[in-house]
Amino acid sequence: MIILAIESSCDETAAAVMENDEHLLANIINSQIDLHGKYGGVVPELASRKHLEDIYPVVERALQEANITLDQVDGLAITQGPGLIGSLLVGLSFAKALSLVKKIPYVGVDHMAGHLFSAFLAEKKPSFPYIALVASGGHSSLFHVTSFQQFSVIGRTRDDAAGEAFDKVAKILGLPYPGGPIISKLSAQGNPSAIKFPRSWLAKDSLDFSFSGLKTSVANYVNQHRESAVTTDMNPGPQTADICASFQEAVVDVLSSKAIRAAKNFGVKDVVLCGGVAANPRLRELLLERGQNNGMEVFMPPIEFCTDNAAMIALAGFHRFQQKAAVTTYDMDVYSRSTMPQPNL
Ligand code: KG4
Ligand code: ZN
Repeated sequence: MIILAIESSCDETAAAVMENDEHLLANIINSQIDLHGKYGGVVPELASRKHLEDIYPVVERALQEANITLDQVDGLAITQGPGLIGSLLVGLSFAKALSLVKKIPYVGVDHMAGHLFSAFLAEKKPSFPYIALVASGGHSSLFHVTSFQQFSVIGRTRDDAAGEAFDKVAKILGLPYPGGPIISKLSAQGNPSAIKFPRSWLAKDSLDFSFSGLKTSVANYVNQHRESAVTTDMNPGPQTADICASFQEAVVDVLSSKAIRAAKNFGVKDVVLCGGVAANPRLRELLLERGQNNGMEVFMPPIEFCTDNAAMIALAGFHRFQQKAAVTTYDMDVYSRSTMPQPNL
């Protein structure tokens, strides 16, 4: 089965072509980072307008790279939600038009399901059941994944997502958007124990996250030490690297501890890390170390499959097509918030 997938839930316009769930024939990603950078975050209205401009050429490039025409496509897989409504609508409307004109069936794919199964795009694949930590600018969630059809949220952030915390702290420090890459770079020159920033563990045994208290704590510290903390004209202050390293350590400590705790609670041996924050070298190192110490195997797909992409939507879409009831109708709509089931823990 040849699947053409489209992802447009946030600030990447992406299209991929995949044969079954194994052979990735094309994977095109057009990032809007330059457009949103000067605003310090994604501006939804600008994002949807840019998707509108980019979707046609991105899909066309994916077909060209895969060396196929639309007539060879057996199914369309489209991100249905969660995400920015205007952005999602561009992808879904485009897919509906293709589907109607070319008579190609389509399925809606949950963006989080895409992330959860992105681990299968790597050579070394996890086995069911596994725990997945999805940490990005929009999500910080833990999932218990038992099959391609069954997965549930077992923990989520109660306020900011991990990547969002990196982006906001970068802004406080006068660093450019997105904050994650620059903070992790500066952290390598800083002391992670220099400043004691708080870790929010929430209730005992809770698998939820909270990063807004940490962000406020960094903001308070920076306000009290403005001269040495803030970056001016791209020159970090004498304390900037220590603040970055201490903040980063607090985030990755909580993320990795809760992922390992989740695997223990569910008696699971495989742990998957994905989402844009998975690009953080310290998070990768710590999760790997803690996984090994607990006899677990940690899977980290290549970064191009961790950040938003359409290859993961193609793979999850292929498995939706395997469930006959999942094939959707033309009155299908997008959704902004997750509809995933949550078990009573
Ligand atoms: O998955 P992604 O590309 O887009 C979504 O948010 O869905 O993730 C982007 C997020 C941003 O918040 C960015 O700051 C963060 O991932 N990020 C990082 C790193 N690289 C990107 N966070 C921490 N360390 C990094 N090296
Ligand atoms: Zn995402």
